[in-house]
Amino acid sequence: MSLTYADYLHLDDLLKLQIPRSDPPEHDEMIFIIVHQAYELWFKLQLHELEKIKEDFRVGDTYGAIATFKRVRTIMKVMVEQIDVIETLTPTSFNSFRDRLDTASGFQSYQFREFEFVLGYKRADVLRFFPPGSPGHDALLRRLHERSVVDAFYDFLKRHGVTIPQELRDRDVTLPSVPNETVEEGILRLYKTQPDLQILFELMTDFDEGIQEWRYRHIKLVERSIGNKRGTGGSLGIEFLKKSLFHPIFPDLWGIRHKL
Ligand code: HEM
Repeated sequence: MSLTYADYLHLDDLLKLQIPRSDPPEHDEMIFIIVHQAYELWFKLQLHELEKIKEDFRVGDTYGAIATFKRVRTIMKVMVEQIDVIETLTPTSFNSFRDRLDTASGFQSYQFREFEFVLGYKRADVLRFFPPGSPGHDALLRRLHERSVVDAFYDFLKRHGVTIPQELRDRDVTLPSVPNETVEEGILRLYKTQPDLQILFELMTDFDEGIQEWRYRHIKLVERSIGNKRGTGGSLGIEFLKKSLFHPIFPDLWGIRHKL
């Protein structure tokens, strides 16, 4: 028998995975589950594409990196827009099944933490929410010890004659990436002299801005859904989320804007 659409996509399995916990069923639990699952699929794709970007940087494939940054920034825009969908859920409706979530929270999305780690926003302390043996622990530990997209970006810049200071080349890759003036000087020179790299830097900035937009939209979503209640993940909710609101992934790209 020839391969069908349903077989190829394993639709039968996929469509069995939306299982509301409310009893009697609350109509709006379905949108909550599907939106979160859709995000997890986007995270999966983003991680896949970011691995390619690391490789593009490593081998110096500028056009490959441009094409893929265009893709991840476009996906990021969809991820930001998707907040509109979940915002159709009113606080009253959300409250009707919120206690069913028990301690479950997006805070425990290991793919989101992988996404942060692969982009160099490494916070080893989040591992305490993913103890050994729990889903995501091994993947997160591996990502923590791997070089990030920012480290691969340094390799790429070095090929283009940018001085990467020794302290960055020998840095402990389990720590978050940090801005650096020497790197910024090099990027500034490339920005002004190489139009292909200017396009790449702008796409990287778009993507970075997209992540910050997602954080902002998610905070507003939380605020309108639960106000200043604590999160189901046990954090202080909005106060906790605000800490990373303006965190840039590529601080050196933001650091040169006033000199352009
Ligand atoms: C009614 C909808 C939502 C509410 C009320 C909500 C609430 C919260 C709260 C309060 C936190 C802080 C951690 C904690 O739970 O204590 C949090 C974190 C988080 N949520 Fe949501 N959330 C919602 C929808 C979503 C959606 C659709 C996603 C998509 C993946 C998501 C992903 C995350 C992530 C990744 C974190 C960790 C963020 C970080 O550490 O910076 N949330 N959420």
